[in-house]
Amino acid sequence: MLSIPELRPSEHLYAKVRHAIPAIEWSMLSEDIDAIIALKKSRNAVILAHNYQTPDIFHCVADIVGDSLALAREAMHVQADVIVLAGVHFMAETAKLLNPSKTVLIPDRGAGCSLADSITPEDVRLLRQKYPGVPIVTYVNTSAAVKAESDICCTSGNAKAVIESLGVERVIMLPDEYLARNIAAETKVKVITWTGHCEVHERFTAEEVRQLRENHPGVVVLAHPECPPDVLAEADFAGSTAAMSSYVASKRPPRVVLLTECSMSDNVAIQYPDLEFIRPCNLCPHMKTITLGNIRHALETMQHQVTIDDSVAARARLAVERMLAVT
Ligand code: 13P
Ligand code: SF4
Repeated sequence: MLSIPELRPSEHLYAKVRHAIPAIEWSMLSEDIDAIIALKKSRNAVILAHNYQTPDIFHCVADIVGDSLALAREAMHVQADVIVLAGVHFMAETAKLLNPSKTVLIPDRGAGCSLADSITPEDVRLLRQKYPGVPIVTYVNTSAAVKAESDICCTSGNAKAVIESLGVERVIMLPDEYLARNIAAETKVKVITWTGHCEVHERFTAEEVRQLRENHPGVVVLAHPECPPDVLAEADFAGSTAAMSSYVASKRPPRVVLLTECSMSDNVAIQYPDLEFIRPCNLCPHMKTITLGNIRHALETMQHQVTIDDSVAARARLAVERMLAVT
């Protein structure tokens, strides 16, 4: 009797990503995808992937995808023994803070962030001295050591709610100057800012948006709040990566541009092939250090394990948990 050859798991996945990944490229990726799917089972691991991960990771091997807030929330409830964080280091640290008994792996230890690099714990201590009694709200895009010096964290998805939950007239919001200014424009709370910038979003300009509208009549412009305020002033909507996805899902704009990291449009466009995505975008070099190859290597070798000093972890966890209690 003839036996029917078993399909490799990657074979049914190609249909999902064929508009984003050419067949020739897929032939090189599918072996890693099959290996990762098998390793996840044998290691009892799950992969959490940020919206800026490439479609091969986002659509083919990730178990949970989302913005920084969703990944933090989901990390807390993971039952598997191992969490692989396909994203940047601060996200892996947040997962470890919220689920300390799990092994958290980051496939590339160097996956940093220009915002996280813009501020140190010492900077936060000095600000506390300069503004006694003013609560310090820290964006999750920071190291655990910086979070530990803060009163509460926020993400781009909940910054306004977090700030207003404190019931004060003034807050210090670190380290993203543009996010802080953009949120300040939406609330009566006075916001003291820092000078950190996201190297991806700071490059968008208001002039670029005007040009886009001229070249692509009717285009709906969605911008991430890490963009400069004059860019947001030209946009139709501003929100976190999850909020942008939801906007596209609910409003279905026939022609749309997402002013954010490049893989975001790739991932959303796969879900809505009938919509036209205009693609000026900027790559995040840190997010792009994560590949199928190093995810596979992480699961094979159980490297690189994320650890957080005990002296820092408890205080940093408190700041993140306070944020999660708000939203
Ligand atoms: P969100 O996905 O939370 O909007 O964050 C964007 C970002 O730049 C993460 O590094
Ligand atoms: Fe950091 Fe910006 Fe890259 Fe996000 S996109 S990881 S904020 S540098």
